[in-house]
Amino acid sequence: MSLLEIQDLQVTYRGTQGDVPAVRGVDLVVEAGQTLGIAGESGCGKSTLATAVLRLLPRSATVTGQIRLEDQDILAMTWGQVRAVRWAKAAIVFQGAMHGLNPVRRVGEQIGEPIRIHENVESREVSSRVNGLLEQVGLPAARARAYPHQLSGGQRQRVMIAMALACRPQLIIADEPTTALDVMVQAQVLKVLKDLINETGVGLIFISHDLSVLAETCDRVAVMYAGRMVETGPSQTIFTDPLHPYSAALAGAFPRIGDPAFRYAPAGLPGDPPFPGDLPSGCTFHPRCARAIDVCQTSDVELVPLGLGRMAACLRVSEGVL
Ligand SMILES: Nc1ncnc2c1ncn2[C@@H]1O[C@H](COP(=O)(O)OP(=O)(O)O)[C@@H](O)[C@H]1O
Ligand SMILES: [Mg+2]
Repeated sequence: MSLLEIQDLQVTYRGTQGDVPAVRGVDLVVEAGQTLGIAGESGCGKSTLATAVLRLLPRSATVTGQIRLEDQDILAMTWGQVRAVRWAKAAIVFQGAMHGLNPVRRVGEQIGEPIRIHENVESREVSSRVNGLLEQVGLPAARARAYPHQLSGGQRQRVMIAMALACRPQLIIADEPTTALDVMVQAQVLKVLKDLINETGVGLIFISHDLSVLAETCDRVAVMYAGRMVETGPSQTIFTDPLHPYSAALAGAFPRIGDPAFRYAPAGLPGDPPFPGDLPSGCTFHPRCARAIDVCQTSDVELVPLGLGRMAACLRVSEGVL
């Protein structure tokens, strides 16, 4: 039994301007203790995929396919069952730590909240677990008494990670946890995450636009474009020897820290990802692809196994038309 198994997941937002198919048939598996990175530019459907796993999508979203967490069918659960799974079995760390924290409550109370809700333990034990969690993310226990505004951005993000760990879930989904932080703090938070994976054996889905960060942190990486996976494989090979032209563009785009434009347009790649409500025909990447040939404009592409645990959705790669 895998920790998480997703099959043919489709998520469509229904809006007044028409349907927005943000996730279009994604399969993925995360084994217990494994780390999976999901890469891709802004708008490719990464957060939609992440929020679907814990049924945190808005009502306007229609979801089909299968999501199994430790063999439990997430999409078939009642809201009561979903609430029991959140925090206790799987938890999400979002990008903007400020939004996830209540500004008028001490951070220690907030880290303890999921423990109080999900476990029947005395308040003294809650406090000692909160202190332990703060230590685990490299913050002194005394910071439990601080309010969110008294902490730096990196410290707040670590509080969010501590909160995610509070009920000892088997799976943590970290959605661009370091994107809003400057480079030094980003490295510190990444180290905290890496140490936690090694110490606790928690399974991790790590979402980032930055392939180099994923290559360093994760066992496997999946590259997402326009709502689909276009390449999956061991993280080092995707980074050093990418198969799909989109992965190659991401791998070649070294992060220029402090340049907000970077996350929207990696170096060497013209334009933006398509809007999911208005997708190009054929391979959705063809308008931006330097290697596209005529057939790429009309022929649909699927992920094809290419050996050594690697898969790519590119006709030029799978058919060897290089
Ligand atoms: N609540 C929503 N309603 C309608 N469209 C949405 C909503 N959330 C996201 N989208 C659209 O879905 C697509 C994927 O978004 P998202 O999952 O946030 O991508 P990523 O996390 O990769 O940046 C985008 O085109 C975005 O505009
Ligand atoms: Mg996102």
